[in-house]
Amino acid sequence: MEAYSRTTLTILLLMNLLFLISNIPTTLAATSSASNSVSTISYKTYIQTACNSTTYPRVCYSSLSPYASNIRGHPQKLCKTALSVAAKAARNASSTISNLSKLKGLTRSEAAVIKDCIENVKSSVDELKQSLNEMGHLGACGSDCQLQISNIKTWVSAAITDESTCTDGLEEQKVSATVQDKISRSILNVARPTSNALSLFNSHYPY
Ligand SMILES: *[C@@H]1O[C@H](CO)[C@@H](O)[C@H](O)[C@H]1NC(C)=O
Ligand SMILES: *[C@@H]1O[C@H](CO)[C@@H](O)[C@H](O)[C@H]1NC(C)=O
Ligand SMILES: *[C@@H]1O[C@H](CO)[C@@H](O)[C@H](O)[C@H]1NC(C)=O
Repeated sequence: MEAYSRTTLTILLLMNLLFLISNIPTTLAATSSASNSVSTISYKTYIQTACNSTTYPRVCYSSLSPYASNIRGHPQKLCKTALSVAAKAARNASSTISNLSKLKGLTRSEAAVIKDCIENVKSSVDELKQSLNEMGHLGACGSDCQLQISNIKTWVSAAITDESTCTDGLEEQKVSATVQDKISRSILNVARPTSNALSLFNSHYPY
């Protein structure tokens, strides 16, 4: 009888131990997710501060804050993410404007404006891709990164120029309000993040 209850006791103790062990990961996970959320808040504040000095702070913050835990307060990752966001927006604008060329009943000058815009936006896609490419070399250049930084700024500036060339073309040609509106809107969707990416570069790499 006594031996039996000792066995029961042992089993109870073992079960207790197992329960404790099985709860350790949960406890640790809870602790680490609590510290994560604290750092996520400070990572987001970092992005907000950086974005506040750009031309379009709200666009900047809303497009970069989803990557806060990846950027982790690193200027280089911040700038690279801003470039990726701009490149993605450029591919989107390129697709949107290419789709406009399939609209029925376009006038000859509308078709011409759309064609020029597609060329311009495709160039800006390439230039942003080149700047991301240069960004990849930034890790290896150590203390002598001036050339890479200057190349990146040149590519991003060229992208901005190409995007605004499309909008300038709109004003010079006879284009219906609908087409003009659709092109302007998709250009703004890429011109803002591209301008923000250059602002972030200029403030984090002022040489
Ligand atoms: C950024 O600017 C906004 C609006 O002016 C302000 O509310 C916010 O406190 C600023 N944030 C930082 C971190 O500077
Ligand atoms: C893509 O373009 C469409 C139409 O211009 C726009 O509504 C959408 O927000 C864009 N998405 C991104 C990720 O830029
Ligand atoms: C352009 O058209 C294609 C094919 O219809 C479609 O898959 C794509 O989503 C469109 N692009 C945009 C940005 O609307």
